[in-house]
Amino acid sequence: MKRIIEVDFNAAREFLAEGKIEEAFSNSLKALDILEGREGRGNDYLGWLNLPSTIDSTIVDRVEKIAQKWSKGIDIVVVIGIGGSYLGSKAALEALSHHFDLYMENGSSPKIVFAGQNLSEDYLSELMELLSEKSAAAVVISKSGTTTEPAVAFRIIKQHFEEKYGREESAGRIVAVTDAAHGALRKLSDMEGYETFIIPDDVGGRYSVLTPVGLLPVAIAGFDIRAMLRGAKDMEVVTSEHSEKNPAVVYAAIRNALYNSGKKIEIIVNYNPKLQYVAEWWKQLYGESEGKENRGIFPASVNFTSDLHSMGQYIQEGERHIFETVISVEKPSRSLSIANDPKNLDGLNFLSGKSIDECNKMAELGTRIAHVDGGVPNMRVVLPEINEYNIGAMFYFFEKACGISAYMLGVNPFDQPGVEDYKKNMFALLGKPGFEEKAKELRARSL
Ligand code: PA5
Repeated sequence: MKRIIEVDFNAAREFLAEGKIEEAFSNSLKALDILEGREGRGNDYLGWLNLPSTIDSTIVDRVEKIAQKWSKGIDIVVVIGIGGSYLGSKAALEALSHHFDLYMENGSSPKIVFAGQNLSEDYLSELMELLSEKSAAAVVISKSGTTTEPAVAFRIIKQHFEEKYGREESAGRIVAVTDAAHGALRKLSDMEGYETFIIPDDVGGRYSVLTPVGLLPVAIAGFDIRAMLRGAKDMEVVTSEHSEKNPAVVYAAIRNALYNSGKKIEIIVNYNPKLQYVAEWWKQLYGESEGKENRGIFPASVNFTSDLHSMGQYIQEGERHIFETVISVEKPSRSLSIANDPKNLDGLNFLSGKSIDECNKMAELGTRIAHVDGGVPNMRVVLPEINEYNIGAMFYFFEKACGISAYMLGVNPFDQPGVEDYKKNMFALLGKPGFEEKAKELRARSL
């Protein structure tokens, strides 16, 4: 199988005591077998495991048909969702899009904007101002169909569409991605006649990027979802191997070995701003999957070189409970080099003829060495370049490694019981029927 992603942990070795790496590999392989054998906790949520190799091609065809339909006459598509129903597509779009697409004369069409990922009145009001000027469509994504943030955003956007386009036309401008049978969004979609896609019962939100949850927004933005699925499918093969060369086994092994040696925080690092939301997606995947039962590596992120001028100080010299994983992109998609300046007033002629990427790579190497010298173990997840195929492979790689890693940690990677607590309090404080007692209790408390 062709090489897609490599995990390099040389710069973590010196931080691990004798025998700890071997022990971690052995545990990681055991956890892989439990995952692949579907014998672990939460094993009714393993639909994502073989998703790339089993996805129904008619779903891909339908996704592409909508993308094709909305490529004309629609300026803006609002993707409504939160958590796993939003971060995967946001990550893929940020990674694959031209940084300045918004300002380019021949930029993409339609533009994708997100909603339902916060409860900011300013955000939604400004979005409504935008929608009143443009021809818009919406993809509303919620597995449960009951999550407050996207439901509130959808209610407002739906009303706006119905006032502007009429109820019938509005239904043609809305696609819902939700559960097969349950939930308010399913009921509403059936009543209004929206086209719908199903999030399989056995695929949890944060493992759903390779279902229509992620595929539909990415296809609408004009990217090649078949290549994304091919990358994921190839990674499915690579990461199912019972081998110490399996990159998911390596990554899960080393991060757990470091955690057990007292490194409680993992900082995912990128040197390419296109990967900023990949880090957000990764944080949600690992944070919700592992942070429970008073255990779990705390997932954090930085964007270098920008954050070398802020978080760099802490990483170099702060408390030594951190390790770094750098998502290292081997080849940029474009090329630009630094010209010679005969006057050399800025003293930068030593860089003449060098590419920006060479400077970036030396910043990366220099930083890794400095951080290792400062007591921060380092790993690298190496990606050949940023494209649809590799992004698909990377999504699957991190999902697989997360399942293995959570099993090593001894937790259920597929539930999120802690997320409910804030919801109950919020419902009570907002006066939801059935929460009266809770509301009294909360109001009696002061924070
Ligand atoms: O990973 C998860 O399960 C969560 O982050 C959910 O994706 C998030 O809470 C949104 O849920 P829903 O799609 O049901 O609206």
